[in-house]
Amino acid sequence: MTAQTSDEQRPALSGPFGYGDRVQLTGPKGRLNTITLVPGGEFHSHRGMIRHEELIGLPDGSVVRNTHDEEYLALRPLLADFVMSMPRGAAIVYPKDAAQILSLADIFPGALVVEAGVGSGALSLHLLRAVGTDGELRSFERREEFAEIARANVAAFAGAAPANWSVTVGDLQEALPATCEAGTVDRIVLDMLAPWECVGAAADALKPGGVILCYVATVTQLSRVAEELRRSGCFTHPQANETMVRGWHVEGLAVRPDHRMVAHTGFLITARRLAPGAVLPERKRRASKSEYNDEDVAAWTPDVLDGPAGEAAEDSREWTPESIGQWSKSDKALRKKVRDARRLAAERGADEA
Ligand SMILES: C[S@@+](CC[C@H](N)C(=O)[O-])C[C@H]1O[C@@H](n2cnc3c(N)ncnc32)[C@H](O)[C@@H]1O
Repeated sequence: MTAQTSDEQRPALSGPFGYGDRVQLTGPKGRLNTITLVPGGEFHSHRGMIRHEELIGLPDGSVVRNTHDEEYLALRPLLADFVMSMPRGAAIVYPKDAAQILSLADIFPGALVVEAGVGSGALSLHLLRAVGTDGELRSFERREEFAEIARANVAAFAGAAPANWSVTVGDLQEALPATCEAGTVDRIVLDMLAPWECVGAAADALKPGGVILCYVATVTQLSRVAEELRRSGCFTHPQANETMVRGWHVEGLAVRPDHRMVAHTGFLITARRLAPGAVLPERKRRASKSEYNDEDVAAWTPDVLDGPAGEAAEDSREWTPESIGQWSKSDKALRKKVRDARRLAAERGADEA
């Protein structure tokens, strides 16, 4: 589904506050509240109140006082702030990984990018910003409820569904060939349980030299997708990494790492599409104890079967969110998230169509 968004409809990303803008208010104890400015609106804390109209026309980063003379810092949320606070159906790509994805997948203005699954739309928002209005993002999601949450979240941030964004409900491996002509896609980003199932379809859709990037939560998935990329014969040697970001407390003489950090989110693995018919030159390896052969790989990942390049291998075992240690939300919890996301979009006067 695609809808038109004009520049005038988009909430401003900078400049003085206006109605429809989201504003983060940081109170005296450092507690953060995010509000949407509406005519006649009021922000109440347990001590005092601020009328929304008092913020209208003020520069971003202003300080306002409530009826108890307490000071509040008013800032427009950054994309990372919005993403971390928006309703979630599935686990989101955190801003630290989204930033790496934009760089490692080489997302550029004007690119045609395919993404699956869309989940809560966190990565979609970053990809849309990077492709710009000259580019296009085609997102795929197998579950309608997640697609609804993502549409509402993206509309809440952007003011309406961007004209250069579509969400197709279906499994990428089936929907991609029906939606994208072979050899036309610049970049493919996969954030899903079993990205190896989509390697064949991705190889067909990508332009020669195009980039595939997979974001996976566990080492078992990382190994499985790496071996499938190799087995397909359509890609360069995959490269994998993870990003750990450690915040620092920097105040006076107390300059030290934060006591807490997010220790693990996921791994990123990238590879580039070879030209059709090209065969990856063999690597000249020095003889080492780490030499392995096809039988060794088959023993480690027995479900990577030999087959023609680009054809999805049959899985002999079940991959589920639970089997890799992830919780999946109940249908009831998911329906609540859909309502939350729609309420947020409606508060911002966003058109999701
Ligand atoms: C972790 S979530 C994606 C989160 C998203 N990247 C974000 O930042 O909000 C994974 C999603 O992939 C979807 N999915 C899994 N396999 C898929 C497939 N083969 N095709 C399309 N969607 C798929 C799931 O339904 C789920 O919503």
